[in-house]
Amino acid sequence: MALRSQIIGTGSYLPSRVVMNKDLEEVLDTSDEWIQQRTGILKRYWAAQDESTSDLALKASEKALESAGVDKKEIDLLLLATVTPDHEFPGSACFLQAKMDIPGIPAIDVRQQCGGFIYALSMADQYIRTGTYKNVLVVCSELHSRCLDLTPRGRNLSVIFGDGAGAIVLRAADITDPENQPHVISTKIHSDGSQAKELWCPGPGTALKRKERVTMEMLEEGVQYPQMNGRAVFSRAVRTMSESLLESLTSNGKELKDLNLAFFHQANKRISEAIGKTMSLSDDLIHSTVEDIGNTTSATIPIGLDDAVRKGKLKKGMLISNVAFGSGFTWGHALIRW
Ligand code: COA
Repeated sequence: MALRSQIIGTGSYLPSRVVMNKDLEEVLDTSDEWIQQRTGILKRYWAAQDESTSDLALKASEKALESAGVDKKEIDLLLLATVTPDHEFPGSACFLQAKMDIPGIPAIDVRQQCGGFIYALSMADQYIRTGTYKNVLVVCSELHSRCLDLTPRGRNLSVIFGDGAGAIVLRAADITDPENQPHVISTKIHSDGSQAKELWCPGPGTALKRKERVTMEMLEEGVQYPQMNGRAVFSRAVRTMSESLLESLTSNGKELKDLNLAFFHQANKRISEAIGKTMSLSDDLIHSTVEDIGNTTSATIPIGLDDAVRKGKLKKGMLISNVAFGSGFTWGHALIRW
Protein backbone atom coordinates (compact mmCIF):
# COMPACT_ATOMS: atom_id res chain seq x y z
CA MET A 1 0.00 0.00 0.00
CA ALA A 2 1.36 3.43 -0.95
CA LEU A 3 0.12 6.98 -0.58
CA ARG A 4 -0.31 8.43 -4.08
CA SER A 5 -2.12 11.31 -5.85
CA GLN A 6 -5.37 10.71 -7.68
CA ILE A 7 -6.73 13.31 -10.12
CA ILE A 8 -10.39 13.46 -9.13
CA GLY A 9 -11.59 16.48 -11.14
CA THR A 10 -10.72 18.67 -14.14
CA GLY A 11 -11.97 22.06 -15.29
CA SER A 12 -11.13 24.68 -17.86
CA TYR A 13 -12.17 28.15 -18.96
CA LEU A 14 -11.71 29.96 -22.25
CA PRO A 15 -12.71 33.62 -22.55
CA SER A 16 -15.64 34.40 -24.84
CA ARG A 17 -13.82 36.48 -27.48
CA VAL A 18 -12.72 34.31 -30.42
CA VAL A 19 -9.84 35.72 -32.48
CA MET A 20 -9.47 34.13 -35.90
CA ASN A 21 -6.21 34.28 -37.87
CA LYS A 22 -7.91 36.68 -40.28
CA ASP A 23 -8.47 39.13 -37.40
CA LEU A 24 -4.67 39.41 -36.96
CA GLU A 25 -3.74 39.87 -40.62
CA GLU A 26 -3.77 43.63 -40.80
CA VAL A 27 -2.48 44.54 -37.35
CA LEU A 28 0.42 42.03 -37.40
CA ASP A 29 1.17 42.06 -41.15
CA THR A 30 0.59 38.31 -41.30
CA SER A 31 -1.78 35.95 -43.11
CA ASP A 32 -4.18 33.16 -42.23
CA GLU A 33 -2.23 30.95 -44.66
CA TRP A 34 1.17 31.65 -42.99
CA ILE A 35 -0.20 30.96 -39.49
CA GLN A 36 -1.92 27.73 -40.52
CA GLN A 37 1.06 26.44 -42.47
CA ARG A 38 3.70 27.25 -39.83
CA THR A 39 1.71 26.54 -36.64
CA GLY A 40 -1.53 24.69 -37.46
CA ILE A 41 -3.43 27.31 -35.41
CA LEU A 42 -6.87 28.39 -36.69
CA LYS A 43 -8.07 30.49 -33.78
CA ARG A 44 -7.44 31.47 -30.16
CA TYR A 45 -9.41 33.16 -27.33
CA TRP A 46 -8.64 36.56 -25.83
CA ALA A 47 -9.84 37.77 -22.44
CA ALA A 48 -12.10 40.79 -21.97
CA GLN A 49 -10.55 43.95 -20.57
CA ASP A 50 -12.20 43.40 -17.20
CA GLU A 51 -10.74 39.89 -16.82
CA SER A 52 -7.39 39.11 -15.14
CA THR A 53 -5.28 35.95 -14.93
CA SER A 54 -6.73 35.07 -11.51
CA ASP A 55 -10.27 35.60 -12.87
CA LEU A 56 -9.66 32.98 -15.57
CA ALA A 57 -8.05 30.73 -12.93
CA LEU A 58 -11.09 31.13 -10.66
CA LYS A 59 -13.49 29.95 -13.35
CA ALA A 60 -11.37 26.89 -14.24
CA SER A 61 -10.92 26.08 -10.53
CA GLU A 62 -14.67 26.26 -9.80
CA LYS A 63 -15.33 23.81 -12.63
CA ALA A 64 -12.59 21.44 -11.45
CA LEU A 65 -13.93 21.49 -7.88
CA GLU A 66 -17.45 20.84 -9.14
CA SER A 67 -16.33 17.90 -11.27
CA ALA A 68 -14.35 16.51 -8.29
CA GLY A 69 -17.29 16.97 -5.93
CA VAL A 70 -14.94 18.74 -3.52
CA ASP A 71 -15.84 21.82 -1.49
CA LYS A 72 -13.27 24.62 -1.79
CA LYS A 73 -12.85 24.57 2.02
CA GLU A 74 -11.43 21.02 1.73
CA ILE A 75 -8.47 22.25 -0.37
CA ASP A 76 -5.31 22.36 1.74
CA LEU A 77 -2.77 23.52 -0.90
CA LEU A 78 -3.22 25.86 -3.87
CA LEU A 79 -0.65 25.94 -6.68
CA LEU A 80 -1.03 28.37 -9.57
CA ALA A 81 1.24 28.35 -12.64
CA THR A 82 1.42 31.40 -14.90
CA VAL A 83 3.82 33.56 -16.92
CA THR A 84 1.29 36.38 -17.08
CA PRO A 85 0.62 37.25 -13.43
CA ASP A 86 -2.03 39.67 -12.17
CA HIS A 87 0.70 41.87 -10.66
CA GLU A 88 4.47 41.84 -10.20
CA PHE A 89 3.93 40.71 -6.59
CA PRO A 90 2.47 39.09 -4.62
CA GLY A 91 1.88 35.96 -6.64
CA SER A 92 -1.39 35.43 -8.49
CA ALA A 93 -2.12 32.40 -6.29
CA CYS A 94 -2.71 34.88 -3.43
CA PHE A 95 -5.19 36.86 -5.53
CA LEU A 96 -6.96 33.64 -6.54
CA GLN A 97 -7.02 32.52 -2.91
CA ALA A 98 -8.74 35.79 -1.92
CA LYS A 99 -11.32 35.39 -4.70
CA MET A 100 -11.99 31.80 -3.59
CA ASP A 101 -12.22 32.90 0.06
CA ILE A 102 -10.00 30.10 1.36
CA PRO A 103 -7.57 31.98 3.65
CA GLY A 104 -4.85 30.25 5.65
CA ILE A 105 -3.76 27.50 3.28
CA PRO A 106 -0.50 27.93 1.34
CA ALA A 107 -1.00 29.64 -2.03
CA ILE A 108 2.09 29.24 -4.22
CA ASP A 109 2.96 30.61 -7.67
CA VAL A 110 4.88 28.35 -10.05
CA ARG A 111 6.99 30.30 -12.55
CA GLN A 112 8.08 27.61 -14.99
CA GLN A 113 6.45 28.85 -18.22
CA CYS A 114 5.23 26.08 -20.54
CA GLY A 115 6.60 23.56 -18.03
CA GLY A 116 4.38 25.09 -15.33
CA PHE A 117 1.75 22.36 -15.21
CA ILE A 118 4.24 19.49 -14.95
CA TYR A 119 6.22 21.37 -12.28
CA ALA A 120 3.07 22.20 -10.25
CA LEU A 121 1.76 18.65 -10.57
CA SER A 122 5.14 17.30 -9.49
CA MET A 123 5.16 19.58 -6.40
CA ALA A 124 1.58 18.61 -5.52
CA ASP A 125 2.48 14.93 -5.89
CA GLN A 126 5.48 15.21 -3.53
CA TYR A 127 3.35 16.90 -0.84
CA ILE A 128 0.69 14.21 -1.19
CA ARG A 129 3.16 11.29 -1.14
CA THR A 130 4.69 12.57 2.08
CA GLY A 131 1.25 12.91 3.67
CA THR A 132 1.63 16.68 4.12
CA TYR A 133 -1.51 17.66 2.17
CA LYS A 134 -4.61 15.68 1.19
CA ASN A 135 -6.55 17.79 -1.34
CA VAL A 136 -4.56 19.97 -3.74
CA LEU A 137 -5.81 22.38 -6.40
CA VAL A 138 -3.42 22.87 -9.33
CA VAL A 139 -4.47 25.63 -11.70
CA CYS A 140 -2.68 27.05 -14.72
CA SER A 141 -3.85 30.36 -16.14
CA GLU A 142 -2.52 32.59 -18.91
CA LEU A 143 -3.63 35.95 -20.20
CA HIS A 144 -1.19 36.51 -23.06
CA SER A 145 -3.23 38.88 -25.18
CA ARG A 146 -2.42 41.83 -22.91
CA CYS A 147 1.31 41.00 -22.77
CA LEU A 148 2.15 40.59 -26.46
CA ASP A 149 3.65 43.01 -28.96
CA LEU A 150 0.59 43.37 -31.19
CA THR A 151 2.54 45.09 -33.99
CA PRO A 152 4.41 43.50 -36.94
CA ARG A 153 7.58 43.56 -34.78
CA GLY A 154 6.07 40.87 -32.52
CA ARG A 155 4.27 38.80 -35.12
CA ASN A 156 6.33 35.59 -34.80
CA LEU A 157 5.14 35.26 -31.19
CA SER A 158 1.84 37.10 -31.17
CA VAL A 159 0.15 34.71 -33.61
CA ILE A 160 0.91 31.69 -31.42
CA PHE A 161 -0.46 32.57 -28.00
CA GLY A 162 -3.99 32.44 -26.62
CA ASP A 163 -5.65 33.03 -23.25
CA GLY A 164 -7.19 30.34 -21.05
CA ALA A 165 -7.03 28.37 -17.82
CA GLY A 166 -7.09 24.71 -16.82
CA ALA A 167 -7.30 23.13 -13.37
CA ILE A 168 -7.16 19.75 -11.67
CA VAL A 169 -8.00 18.57 -8.16
CA LEU A 170 -5.71 15.94 -6.62
CA ARG A 171 -6.54 13.81 -3.62
CA ALA A 172 -4.35 11.48 -1.53
CA ALA A 173 -5.29 7.82 -1.91
CA ASP A 174 -3.94 4.50 -0.66
CA ILE A 175 -2.97 2.53 -3.74
CA THR A 176 -2.99 -1.25 -3.38
CA ASP A 177 -3.43 -2.21 -7.05
CA PRO A 178 -1.23 0.18 -9.10
CA GLU A 179 -2.07 -1.39 -12.47
CA ASN A 180 -5.76 -0.64 -12.03
CA GLN A 181 -6.28 2.15 -9.49
CA PRO A 182 -6.03 5.69 -10.89
CA HIS A 183 -2.97 7.60 -9.67
CA VAL A 184 0.02 9.70 -10.68
CA ILE A 185 2.67 7.05 -11.37
CA SER A 186 5.67 9.36 -11.71
CA THR A 187 6.78 12.90 -12.44
CA LYS A 188 10.23 14.13 -13.48
CA ILE A 189 11.25 17.73 -13.99
CA HIS A 190 14.32 19.26 -15.68
CA SER A 191 15.79 22.70 -16.54
CA ASP A 192 18.63 24.15 -18.59
CA GLY A 193 19.12 27.80 -17.65
CA SER A 194 21.95 28.24 -20.17
CA GLN A 195 19.18 28.58 -22.79
CA ALA A 196 17.09 31.09 -20.83
CA LYS A 197 17.36 33.85 -23.42
CA GLU A 198 16.11 31.71 -26.33
CA LEU A 199 12.56 32.45 -25.15
CA TRP A 200 12.17 35.17 -22.53
CA CYS A 201 10.73 38.48 -21.48
CA PRO A 202 13.63 40.81 -20.54
CA GLY A 203 11.73 43.53 -18.70
CA PRO A 204 10.87 45.01 -16.40
CA GLY A 205 13.71 43.56 -14.35
CA THR A 206 16.79 44.36 -12.29
CA ALA A 207 19.20 42.63 -14.69
CA LEU A 208 18.59 45.37 -17.26
CA LYS A 209 20.73 47.57 -14.98
CA ARG A 210 18.98 50.83 -15.75
CA LYS A 211 18.48 53.56 -13.22
CA GLU A 212 14.88 52.56 -12.65
CA ARG A 213 13.01 49.30 -13.11
CA VAL A 214 10.85 50.82 -15.90
CA THR A 215 11.76 53.77 -18.12
CA MET A 216 10.07 55.26 -21.18
CA GLU A 217 13.15 54.30 -23.19
CA MET A 218 12.77 50.64 -22.20
CA LEU A 219 9.10 50.63 -23.17
CA GLU A 220 9.97 52.10 -26.56
CA GLU A 221 12.59 49.35 -27.07
CA GLY A 222 9.89 46.78 -26.30
CA VAL A 223 11.73 44.96 -23.48
CA GLN A 224 8.36 44.27 -21.86
CA TYR A 225 7.41 41.88 -24.67
CA PRO A 226 8.39 38.21 -24.98
CA GLN A 227 11.17 37.40 -27.44
CA MET A 228 11.96 34.06 -29.04
CA ASN A 229 14.48 32.34 -31.24
CA GLY A 230 11.73 30.29 -32.92
CA ARG A 231 13.92 27.80 -34.76
CA ALA A 232 16.11 26.97 -31.75
CA VAL A 233 13.02 26.48 -29.58
CA PHE A 234 11.33 24.34 -32.22
CA SER A 235 14.14 21.82 -32.69
CA ARG A 236 14.90 21.52 -28.97
CA ALA A 237 11.16 21.09 -28.20
CA VAL A 238 10.86 18.16 -30.60
CA ARG A 239 13.97 16.41 -29.29
CA THR A 240 13.30 17.03 -25.60
CA MET A 241 9.60 16.13 -25.58
CA SER A 242 10.36 12.90 -27.51
CA GLU A 243 13.00 12.00 -24.88
CA SER A 244 10.65 12.92 -22.02
CA LEU A 245 7.87 10.73 -23.39
CA LEU A 246 10.27 7.78 -23.52
CA GLU A 247 11.62 8.62 -20.05
CA SER A 248 8.07 8.58 -18.64
CA LEU A 249 7.57 5.05 -19.94
CA THR A 250 10.95 3.36 -19.55
CA SER A 251 11.49 4.67 -16.00
CA ASN A 252 8.29 2.86 -15.06
CA GLY A 253 8.91 -0.39 -16.96
CA LYS A 254 6.39 0.54 -19.69
CA GLU A 255 6.62 0.61 -23.47
CA LEU A 256 5.05 2.74 -26.17
CA LYS A 257 2.52 -0.01 -26.85
CA ASP A 258 1.19 0.40 -23.28
CA LEU A 259 0.36 4.08 -23.85
CA ASN A 260 -3.29 5.03 -24.47
CA LEU A 261 -3.01 8.81 -24.91
CA ALA A 262 -0.26 11.47 -24.97
CA PHE A 263 -0.68 15.11 -23.95
CA PHE A 264 2.15 17.22 -25.30
CA HIS A 265 2.54 20.89 -24.54
CA GLN A 266 0.63 22.54 -27.39
CA ALA A 267 3.09 25.10 -28.78
CA ASN A 268 2.75 24.44 -32.46
CA LYS A 269 0.99 21.61 -34.31
CA ARG A 270 4.15 20.96 -36.31
CA ILE A 271 6.05 20.20 -33.08
CA SER A 272 3.56 17.47 -32.05
CA GLU A 273 3.52 16.13 -35.61
CA ALA A 274 7.32 15.96 -35.67
CA ILE A 275 7.33 14.08 -32.32
CA GLY A 276 4.66 11.72 -33.65
CA LYS A 277 6.76 11.06 -36.76
CA THR A 278 10.03 10.61 -34.84
CA MET A 279 8.40 8.12 -32.47
CA SER A 280 5.98 6.49 -34.95
CA LEU A 281 2.92 7.47 -32.86
CA SER A 282 -0.49 7.20 -34.52
CA ASP A 283 -2.42 10.49 -34.79
CA ASP A 284 -5.18 9.30 -32.47
CA LEU A 285 -2.62 8.75 -29.68
CA ILE A 286 -1.90 12.50 -29.48
CA HIS A 287 -4.59 14.77 -28.03
CA SER A 288 -4.36 18.08 -29.88
CA THR A 289 -6.01 21.40 -28.98
CA VAL A 290 -3.62 23.96 -30.50
CA GLU A 291 -5.75 24.37 -33.67
CA ASP A 292 -8.64 25.78 -31.67
CA ILE A 293 -7.03 27.59 -28.72
CA GLY A 294 -3.41 28.35 -29.72
CA ASN A 295 -0.55 28.03 -27.25
CA THR A 296 -1.81 28.72 -23.73
CA THR A 297 1.61 28.06 -22.12
CA SER A 298 1.19 26.35 -18.70
CA ALA A 299 -2.55 25.87 -19.26
CA THR A 300 -2.35 23.76 -22.42
CA ILE A 301 -2.09 20.35 -20.77
CA PRO A 302 -4.81 20.84 -18.09
CA ILE A 303 -7.12 22.37 -20.71
CA GLY A 304 -6.35 19.36 -22.93
CA LEU A 305 -7.08 16.89 -20.10
CA ASP A 306 -10.43 18.56 -19.40
CA ASP A 307 -11.25 18.64 -23.12
CA ALA A 308 -10.45 14.93 -23.49
CA VAL A 309 -12.54 14.05 -20.41
CA ARG A 310 -15.53 16.02 -21.67
CA LYS A 311 -15.28 14.49 -25.15
CA GLY A 312 -15.22 11.00 -23.60
CA LYS A 313 -11.76 10.35 -25.07
CA LEU A 314 -9.95 10.12 -21.73
CA LYS A 315 -11.40 7.19 -19.80
CA LYS A 316 -10.75 5.49 -16.48
CA GLY A 317 -7.92 2.96 -16.58
CA MET A 318 -6.03 4.59 -19.46
CA LEU A 319 -2.26 5.07 -19.24
CA ILE A 320 -1.45 8.66 -20.25
CA SER A 321 1.80 10.55 -20.54
CA ASN A 322 1.90 14.34 -20.16
CA VAL A 323 4.99 16.01 -21.52
CA ALA A 324 5.91 19.70 -21.60
CA PHE A 325 8.80 21.84 -22.79
CA GLY A 326 9.24 25.59 -22.69
CA SER A 327 11.10 28.73 -21.75
CA GLY A 328 13.88 28.29 -19.21
CA PHE A 329 14.39 25.83 -20.82
CA THR A 330 12.19 23.76 -18.52
CA TRP A 331 10.63 20.40 -19.29
CA GLY A 332 9.36 17.21 -17.75
CA HIS A 333 6.78 14.45 -17.70
CA ALA A 334 3.92 13.07 -15.63
CA LEU A 335 2.86 9.47 -16.26
CA ILE A 336 -0.65 8.82 -15.00
CA ARG A 337 -3.00 5.86 -14.68
CA TRP A 338 -6.28 7.74 -15.23
N1 COA B 1 3.47 36.11 -40.36
C1 COA B 1 4.15 36.22 -41.49
N2 COA B 1 5.48 36.08 -41.58
C2 COA B 1 6.13 35.82 -40.43
C3 COA B 1 5.47 35.71 -39.20
C4 COA B 1 4.08 35.87 -39.20
N3 COA B 1 3.36 35.76 -38.06
N4 COA B 1 6.40 35.44 -38.26
C5 COA B 1 7.60 35.40 -38.86
N5 COA B 1 7.44 35.64 -40.19
C6 COA B 1 8.44 35.68 -41.23
C7 COA B 1 9.76 36.21 -40.72
O1 COA B 1 9.79 37.62 -40.81
C8 COA B 1 10.73 35.58 -41.68
O2 COA B 1 10.73 36.30 -42.88
P1 COA B 1 12.08 36.44 -43.75
O3 COA B 1 12.44 35.05 -44.15
O4 COA B 1 11.64 37.31 -44.88
O5 COA B 1 13.08 37.08 -42.85
C9 COA B 1 10.09 34.21 -41.98
O6 COA B 1 8.69 34.33 -41.64
C10 COA B 1 10.69 33.08 -41.20
O7 COA B 1 10.78 33.51 -39.84
P2 COA B 1 11.11 32.50 -38.70
O8 COA B 1 10.95 33.16 -37.36
O9 COA B 1 12.42 31.85 -38.98
O10 COA B 1 9.91 31.48 -38.91
P3 COA B 1 9.81 29.94 -38.57
O11 COA B 1 9.68 29.15 -39.78
O12 COA B 1 10.84 29.52 -37.55
O13 COA B 1 8.40 29.90 -37.83
C11 COA B 1 7.50 29.90 -35.64
C12 COA B 1 8.18 30.71 -36.72
C13 COA B 1 7.34 30.79 -34.43
C14 COA B 1 6.16 29.43 -36.11
C15 COA B 1 8.38 28.66 -35.30
O14 COA B 1 9.72 29.02 -35.17
C16 COA B 1 7.96 27.97 -34.05
O15 COA B 1 6.86 27.48 -33.94
N6 COA B 1 8.85 27.87 -33.07
C17 COA B 1 8.58 27.25 -31.83
C18 COA B 1 7.60 28.06 -31.10
C19 COA B 1 7.31 27.53 -29.76
O16 COA B 1 7.21 26.37 -29.58
N7 COA B 1 7.18 28.42 -28.81
C20 COA B 1 6.78 28.18 -27.50
C21 COA B 1 7.59 27.14 -26.86
S1 COA B 1 6.91 26.82 -25.39
